[in-house]
Amino acid sequence: MTDNTDSPTTSEFDRRSFILMAGAAGTAMVPLTARAAGTPAEAAAAPDASAPVNVTLRVNGASQSISIDPRTTLLDALREHIGLTGSKKGCDHGQCGACTVLIDGRRVVSCLTLALAAEGQQILTIEGLAKNGKLHPMQQAFIDQDAFQCGYCTPGQIVSAVACVTEGHANSDDNIREYMSGNICRCAAYPNIVAAVKQAAPAILSDQQKG
Ligand code: FES
Ligand code: FES
Repeated sequence: MTDNTDSPTTSEFDRRSFILMAGAAGTAMVPLTARAAGTPAEAAAAPDASAPVNVTLRVNGASQSISIDPRTTLLDALREHIGLTGSKKGCDHGQCGACTVLIDGRRVVSCLTLALAAEGQQILTIEGLAKNGKLHPMQQAFIDQDAFQCGYCTPGQIVSAVACVTEGHANSDDNIREYMSGNICRCAAYPNIVAAVKQAAPAILSDQQKG
């Protein structure tokens, strides 16, 4: 009879060998993993996404040169860097229209537009509508028709309403409601807003035809 007490069986030897080999293999994996993640020096050399960049925006006919984080929205650039606080931040998610401005005549929600993407284009905000101390016809119509209560949505409503007219969508109450539906009014001044758009439309279309 053979005594195997002091010497490993073939199966024990194999198990120990496997564990040792696996351990060695695991150790060998460490530098490979570290290499995949990059050395500290490589990580330090990665570009800083928030490094300021210079941008010149054309707002209400004037050039505005600012230095901003490239991730800055047009709304924040207007409000925080240029000082035009007429455009409002309601939802900051593109859902309420309070931040509406025109870029080359087209409505955009400035909270979802990067300021850098607007460079070289004509930006029109609520502050750019009045001329020579005279209110824009749409501003006057909102006053005449009592088309606001708290007023928070109003700058976005007015800018959007101007585009609604110039786009040719102010030809019926239903169309006005449809094409103004991106602008939410918590005070529910909707009937008065429709009345204001109808009041201002002829004057705006007349100016548009004159060029
Ligand atoms: Fe931009 Fe609401 S703040 S859509
Ligand atoms: Fe108050 Fe429109 S007037 S949200």
